Amino acid sequence: MFETLKLLPADPILGLSMAYAKDTNPAKVDLGVGVYKNDEGQTPIMAAVAEAEKQRITRETTKAYTPPAGYPGANEAVTRLIYGEGHVAVLANRVRTIQTPGGCGALRVAAELIQRAKPGASIWVSTPTWANHIPLLGSAGLSLKEYPYYDYTSHSINLEAMLATLKTIPRGDLVLLHACCHNPSGADLSRAQWDQVADVLQERGVIPFVDMAYQGFGEGLDEDTYGLRLLASRLPEVVIATSFSKNFGLYRERAGSLSLVLADAAQADATNSQLLSVTRGLYSMPPAHGAALVDIILHSPELTALWQRELTSMRERIAGLRVDLVAALNGLQQQRDFSFIAQERGMFSFLGLNVEQVQKLRSEYSIYMTDNSRISVAGLRAQNIDYVARAVVAVL
Ligand code: LMR
Repeated sequence: MFETLKLLPADPILGLSMAYAKDTNPAKVDLGVGVYKNDEGQTPIMAAVAEAEKQRITRETTKAYTPPAGYPGANEAVTRLIYGEGHVAVLANRVRTIQTPGGCGALRVAAELIQRAKPGASIWVSTPTWANHIPLLGSAGLSLKEYPYYDYTSHSINLEAMLATLKTIPRGDLVLLHACCHNPSGADLSRAQWDQVADVLQERGVIPFVDMAYQGFGEGLDEDTYGLRLLASRLPEVVIATSFSKNFGLYRERAGSLSLVLADAAQADATNSQLLSVTRGLYSMPPAHGAALVDIILHSPELTALWQRELTSMRERIAGLRVDLVAALNGLQQQRDFSFIAQERGMFSFLGLNVEQVQKLRSEYSIYMTDNSRISVAGLRAQNIDYVARAVVAVL
């Protein structure tokens, strides 16, 4: 049977990490996968997470199954993290949140639920979007369509084209929006632009599906939810996938959540029952460890404060690296202005190189980035910025 299956090329993002690991060049630089690194090039366990792990070891008394939606306390705390205190949809008992195996799990479970509610539903994704959105949503049976988003020439959002397409989307279709730190472009909607997008979605009866994988990496934990909270206060139905891979540094623990805003409390209960039947058919219940750490941190004022300080320093470090990279690139040549990199947010930006240039950086300089020239800024270090800038200028 399996002879029908042919060898596939490596994953466009995760495959880079494997190629990087094999590279023996001591000057190699990993700007591929979106994983935070410190100036020593390490992805350390956050101090708040390490402390929560110690507490968990002494507190955990059983390995029996968790409830199907995960720890109830974690879901309540995560709901607060997403919507803030006293959000109108939460107060109206219209929100249901479950733990999922990472943000990918949330996206896939949501896609399966949507497929159950409306087989073959159309979901509109930004051009470009995170490469893995396509298989995660498409494999569940959703039909993928595109709306214009990033303009590679002006290095900014083409809002006019985006709104013009959103205005043509039929009622009941879904639109995938990135809450903050757009992956792969780093170009985020301003508050005024979110307001305009919300107006159009409300007017057209289009359902927002918000992916929030980088809460806290843009402007701040609350600031990054502006659009999402707005949509949740104005629209009857919103789908929200979140990840704790980046903001709690829990990558391998697979911790995330799926939160749904529904029309009313009765519909919320009905939809939640279907959601738990979807997850039962896929994996029964989510992994416990990462979510338990999030639970412990968010229920301890001291650990929450420590975690927030660590997250702030990660965000500020990346912002600083952006400024340093721009200074290095613009200092070496006048042909191109790279200032846009310092305006963008989160882990990613496009350098604006073609595939040949990207491959040359890989083969001649051991600098790794995805073929579309997306860099994970967090992979830069004080000691390699000049090397990277010189290499980029050399291939321009
Ligand atoms: C990325 O875009 O690099 C991250 O979201 C990691 C991944 O799974 O692709």
